[in-house]
Amino acid sequence: MANSTDHDLDCLTIDELEKIAAERMDKQTRDYYNEGADSGSTLKENMSAYQKYRIRPRVLRDISAIDTSVNIFGYNNSVPLGVAPTAMQCLAHDDGEAATARACKKMGVVMGLSSFSTTSLEDVQSALGGHPGVLQLYLFEEREKSRKLIQRAKKAGYKAVFLTVDTPVLGRRNLEIRNQFKLPKHLKAANFNRDEDDDEEDSTKANAAEADQAGKTDGPKRTPPKGPITFHTHAPNPTLCWERDIAWLKEQCYPEMQVWVKGIATSEDALLACHHGVDGIVVSNHGGRQLNGALATIDALPEVAEAVRSQSKKIPVHVDGGIRHGTDVFKALALGADFVWVGRPVLWGLAYKGQEGVELCLKLLSDEIRLCMGLSGVTKVEDIGKEYLVKIDRSGFVARL
Ligand SMILES: Cc1cc2nc3c(=O)[nH]c(=O)nc-3n(C[C@H](O)[C@H](O)[C@H](O)COP(=O)(O)O)c2cc1C
Repeated sequence: MANSTDHDLDCLTIDELEKIAAERMDKQTRDYYNEGADSGSTLKENMSAYQKYRIRPRVLRDISAIDTSVNIFGYNNSVPLGVAPTAMQCLAHDDGEAATARACKKMGVVMGLSSFSTTSLEDVQSALGGHPGVLQLYLFEEREKSRKLIQRAKKAGYKAVFLTVDTPVLGRRNLEIRNQFKLPKHLKAANFNRDEDDDEEDSTKANAAEADQAGKTDGPKRTPPKGPITFHTHAPNPTLCWERDIAWLKEQCYPEMQVWVKGIATSEDALLACHHGVDGIVVSNHGGRQLNGALATIDALPEVAEAVRSQSKKIPVHVDGGIRHGTDVFKALALGADFVWVGRPVLWGLAYKGQEGVELCLKLLSDEIRLCMGLSGVTKVEDIGKEYLVKIDRSGFVARL
């Protein structure tokens, strides 16, 4: 029997973590973290699409030694999973991104930091203490502001930038609009509007601007954002394009940092990403927060993985969205992902118990990955392939992949 001291008996699954966390967050934070765009159907399908697959377990294979680790950025990550970049973590817990960073280090898991973090990228890097981190980037129309951020990330020691490419405009999030979402006064977008960046900007103005802009959509005649950098004004950039922006970004980041694109959903764009020489792809729909009606990421993954496999230079393919159990991770890997990223469950862990809660979240998922591998007869991550899955259709018919 499992030793109960190894467990938090109040929280044995990510589903339970979601419920506990919901009780601990105020309404504005809960809605902001948990909602998807429009009706939320893509958010839901990101999760439910995993149910189309079942595992074909193999037996009598001596699984007494299971290695769940994988190499990422030259580092031995304890499981094929990282913490996805999610904005404004101090809403969940006072220790915010620093707590997430310490938990990642302790659990041996790479951390993605949002540009719109409520802790500066330098402070997060000190909390990581040499442990690998990547910086998610929104490329601003005001290039100089992005250039400064990239230089700071390089100096701090981030391994890569993940350029978010699914936000040419912001998705419509109705709860955010109804709640008139704004950062509480004591919090700020910590990477921007510092005195050393720009004398005329200060964080007070930034907070005020965030409040003014929250939930508003641009009219038909869009003007480029000016003034203090806020999520609602600066994260969306409708001018982004393959030809100009990837080359610019590589110039800025190389050789110290890799350049990845986050938010690919089709084989066509995967091929373009390869063509433009990015270092990796994250199949993502922003956790269902952007284009509602877009396909679930696990449904987009096979065509992306196949397109990348067809290239002479193979780059890593990662996926995020809707991963709530170790078996989801196993299925994603079997469908061609090299690695997965997890967003909301980490925020729930943070809301539950700060650093300890994030560790709990990562432990639950790590234990489930190990268990799933063992019960499926796999001892190494690289051996997880499509022969371990079947697809089940609406009428219950099962087909090998
Ligand atoms: C509250 C919240 C904030 C997010 N902020 C960012 C962000 O700043 N930049 C970004 O590229 N993605 C952001 N994401 C998307 C995540 O990186 C990731 O794609 C998504 O959360 C994965 O889905 P999951 O939450 O179902 O695991 C955010 C997601 C959530 C839930």
